[in-house]
Amino acid sequence: MKINQNYGNLAESYLFSTIGKKVNAFTAAHPEREVIRLGIGDVTLPLARPVIEALHAATDEMAEKATFRGYGPDQGYDFLRTALQAEYARHGVALELDEIFVGDGAKSDVGNILELFDADNTVLVPDPVYPVYVDTNVMAGRRILYASATRENDFLPMPDACVRADIIYICSPNNPTGAAYTRAQLKAWVDYANENDAVLLFDAAYERFITEPDVPHSIFEIDGAKTCAIEFCSLSKTAGFTGTRCSYTVVPMALKRGGTKLNAMWLRRQTTKYNGVSYIVQRAAAAVFTDAGRQATGEAIAYYRANAAMIAAALNEAGVWYCGGKNSPYLWMECPGGMASWDFFDYLLEHAGVVGTPGAGFGARGEGYFRLTGFGDAQKTKRAAQKLREAAAALQSR
Ligand code: MLT
Repeated sequence: MKINQNYGNLAESYLFSTIGKKVNAFTAAHPEREVIRLGIGDVTLPLARPVIEALHAATDEMAEKATFRGYGPDQGYDFLRTALQAEYARHGVALELDEIFVGDGAKSDVGNILELFDADNTVLVPDPVYPVYVDTNVMAGRRILYASATRENDFLPMPDACVRADIIYICSPNNPTGAAYTRAQLKAWVDYANENDAVLLFDAAYERFITEPDVPHSIFEIDGAKTCAIEFCSLSKTAGFTGTRCSYTVVPMALKRGGTKLNAMWLRRQTTKYNGVSYIVQRAAAAVFTDAGRQATGEAIAYYRANAAMIAAALNEAGVWYCGGKNSPYLWMECPGGMASWDFFDYLLEHAGVVGTPGAGFGARGEGYFRLTGFGDAQKTKRAAQKLREAAAALQSR
């Protein structure tokens, strides 16, 4: 038999697994030291009260013969998809219910959607970016081109008429840089994709962190997007569902490639390989979009934003260059003293007990940068910000 040789082209382990192993080794060696984790973007606040109440109520329903549910509908329950449809309408986007697919995470769907495309397609990925886009295409053996996201272009690469790609990833607000495309910039990508028969895979996982009016929450706010884009969004970061798991993917009916509707292909793929998110979790997800749910999850977002502001203040005081934090929970800082990003990771862990994510883990262009998240506990983030300031100042004066 032959195994998939493409796996041999991957880094030995997934970025956040590597970080987890390094941190575990450090804590085992120094059990007396406090370690503050601002590496992986994992939430720390409990689920919102309306979400918990919905979970309890749905659990009780499952305990009674009359209200028990077995397999759910293919694309998710109507009560949730209707709530999602209304959520999109708030941003001026009209969707048909059958364009919305409920899933267990943007990460899974971003990876699985690739089954719709031949391995011969060329992929365009921003560098740096969320490593799942690259790794999943490496697994499939696709040719990958990189769009450089640098300080010069505000970490927002624009289409290049000389570059021909079939599958294009856009993450806005961006993980890891926090940069977010404006309406006009996204229009340029939509036009490029339509002109080149390409598909945009738009990751909107951080849309609830947007504060600027000119930054769209959905690619479908842009004219022409329904003939070229698929959107992924998740409740992980917007409503604290990292451990609860629920996401949604929008595949417009108007999106056709090779004469085939991608919506029909995705439905075929999902019904064959996936049995959906549990009833209980879908009820919890629907509660996020009630007035009370929106209010409570909004408070959590404000808490994480305040954390990001604390880190930003520390970086300002230390005179360290950074961006992000404005439309995003992430801050993207330059490593002080010209350090390489994994060296700074080791230094910060060793000297300050603070965990971040090395920029190089997000791509070659991420070298020399470092990502910190606002998703931590506020008190711990305050201590981490203080330690970060001291460490950065010490490194800069070396
Ligand atoms: C991150 O830290 O980049 C994210 O938490 C990873 C993810 O969403 O899978």
